[in-house]
Amino acid sequence: MLARVQSCATQGIQGLFVEVEADLGNGLPTFSIVGLPDAAVRESRERVLAALRNCGYEFPARKITVNLAPAHVRKEGARFDLPIAVALLLASGQVPRGPAIEEGVFVGELALDGTLRAVRGILAVVSAAKREGRGPVWIPRENLAEARAIEGVSVQTLGSLRELRGDEATAGEAVPARTEGPTSDRHIPDLAEVQGQVVARRALEIAAAGAHNILFVGPPGSGKTMLARRLPGILPPLTREEAVEVSTIHSVAGQILPGHGLVTDPPFRAPHHTISDAGLVGGGRGPYPGEVSLAHRGVLFLDELPEFHRNALEALRQPLEEGFVSLARAGSTTRFPASFSLIAAMNPCPCGFRGDSRRACRCPTGATTRYWSKISGPILDRIDLILEVPAVPMDDLFASAPGECSTVVRERVVRARAAASGRNAVPSLDHPSKALIRRAADAFRITARGVVRIRRVARTIADLAGSDAVRPEHVAEAIQYRMPAGVF
Ligand SMILES: Nc1ncnc2c1ncn2[C@@H]1O[C@H](COP(=O)(O)OP(=O)(O)OP(=O)(O)O)[C@@H](O)[C@H]1O
Ligand SMILES: [Mg+2]
Ligand SMILES: [Zn+2]
Repeated sequence: MLARVQSCATQGIQGLFVEVEADLGNGLPTFSIVGLPDAAVRESRERVLAALRNCGYEFPARKITVNLAPAHVRKEGARFDLPIAVALLLASGQVPRGPAIEEGVFVGELALDGTLRAVRGILAVVSAAKREGRGPVWIPRENLAEARAIEGVSVQTLGSLRELRGDEATAGEAVPARTEGPTSDRHIPDLAEVQGQVVARRALEIAAAGAHNILFVGPPGSGKTMLARRLPGILPPLTREEAVEVSTIHSVAGQILPGHGLVTDPPFRAPHHTISDAGLVGGGRGPYPGEVSLAHRGVLFLDELPEFHRNALEALRQPLEEGFVSLARAGSTTRFPASFSLIAAMNPCPCGFRGDSRRACRCPTGATTRYWSKISGPILDRIDLILEVPAVPMDDLFASAPGECSTVVRERVVRARAAASGRNAVPSLDHPSKALIRRAADAFRITARGVVRIRRVARTIADLAGSDAVRPEHVAEAIQYRMPAGVF
């Protein structure tokens, strides 16, 4: 007796269909699974066995062979527990045949009592089902909010394997798609709370308008962290398409909390400096996306930049340059999107007070150079706006007039982004602008990569000014933000 059901794995952020076949043969009772990695087979077998028994089903005393195909798709995790159990139930006639089951796509982990547990990557599964016109998709009830974010696919949820018993029409729970996005409950602090720091605020606005990278360098307490945390508040919300893309990455990473649907705000990720390179750029058995991909279309904030492990900083080169990461593992390469604004903050020297009027720097000779060398040249080269954030004088901190609030700044950002859309990010320049760049490049030893970044930033500055052409004043401002390392 043979039965087949569909399941779905993920490769990167794509869903890939997997067929699960169960054959009940004559011979001594055995239970073998082929097409899964060894460790996963053992665990899945135990869970499926216990779940079937504990839900009152009969475990067929036959020579059972389960095959997951195609063999070359990497099948990680416990998501195949449910399709394996369903294939066994179908083959042994314990659930009724019918289109909802036979054409269904099943994913879910089983607890020993048959309860369904949430799995990663449900959004990728539902998107794949939509793309190929398959369904219904049967998923753990805990994954419901996530699945509802995509319209046009029929979704059935299960709380327990028991629910498959009996009349197929009442099995599971069909759920309608939800069209409106969930509203955000995230609190983002407002730029109005920042006193002074006109230049740093301007840099934030430019970064928001052009998705540029910033490095803030300043003494302790000058407001670097405070400024960085206010960047998300001046970014426009994600479009529907972006929200689905971002949410799918978060889904594959297992970062969507039960009850949460689409991620609708640009992400803000602030990993601690002790993070591993795999944690930062992705890796592990999936492989799974790292912080750079979780920050896709949003902000990656690296506070105390030189404290990060050198490997982690080196691994940032690819995403900073190309907007994605490729993770090579056991003969295959997985690519995750990773296009984000990097906001980094650091002190000018290990003690923090170099160049500060309040206190003298007490770092031994060489210490500052070593400190800066941790951020290798290639990383600094990939940052568009490098600027000094001096401590705000006490009098200014108590200034009565608050700064502009985030909503007002965001309106300018949205206008600039609209102007920039569909246009080449690297503009052509007039003669005076080129001459300016050439002089700066000589004086500050700016590399070719640095020059491209200056041109891009100048383009954004022109967009903020509502100017179609990039003029020398835009270029001059862009150059101002590219002070080379060591000037601090
Ligand atoms: N420009 C400012 N306007 C208003 N408050 C400020 C400003 N700068 C600093 N502060 C106050 O000082 C506190 C410390 O600032 P913040 O943590 O951002 O400093 P930092 O530059 O990140 O310092 P460190 O180098 O020690 O990390 C803020 O929480 C805020 O209360
Ligand atoms: Mg700080
Ligand atoms: Zn110092």
